[in-house]
Amino acid sequence: MKQVQFDSYQAMERAMVRKDLATARHHSRVAEVCLKIGSHLSLSSEELACLELSALLHDIGKLGVDDAILKSATSLSEGEWAQMRAHAEIGFRLLRGLEEFSGVAEIVHSHHERWDGAGYPRRLKGHEIPLLARVIAVGDTFDALVHGRPYRSAVSETEALQEIMRHRGTQFDPDVVDAFAAWLNPVGLPVSVHATPYGMV
Ligand SMILES: [Fe+2]
Repeated sequence: MKQVQFDSYQAMERAMVRKDLATARHHSRVAEVCLKIGSHLSLSSEELACLELSALLHDIGKLGVDDAILKSATSLSEGEWAQMRAHAEIGFRLLRGLEEFSGVAEIVHSHHERWDGAGYPRRLKGHEIPLLARVIAVGDTFDALVHGRPYRSAVSETEALQEIMRHRGTQFDPDVVDAFAAWLNPVGLPVSVHATPYGMV
């Protein structure tokens, strides 16, 4: 990371730590997982650096979400979900205004898009979604599953792998899921994959 990027990143991450420590910790963990997936996708060192920075900032738009919604321990109403989903757009607007993050803004904007076009905020589909955003979608979901959320308990890494593989080719880019599985399940243990409805913010 260049010095000017690092200074700006640190300022934003300090704000995130004060706003919601759980999201700040999630950022760090997702970045680690994304780098593992990225190395299995044979990304270049430049792409890996952009992936790491994008993952470290992917939920920075949650700075603009009300604390009561962000930290709610109960299911959110439809209106509250709409506010929560706005974090992708808020993060994009924040980052695109900073020249040193111009390459990251579009990836942050797209991290909740789905391979099948049913994601948000723009309902991008397949390769319309930047590759690094497709990687973050998998890393983000894995972390949310194994660490849980205030309204949902954590599952094991194996269960998380199964859940992500169930959504290979629908929610997630199949090639990214294969790279993820190659990292987490290198000996190719069989996992059961029965489709269930699933959503993630
Ligand atoms: Fe997010």
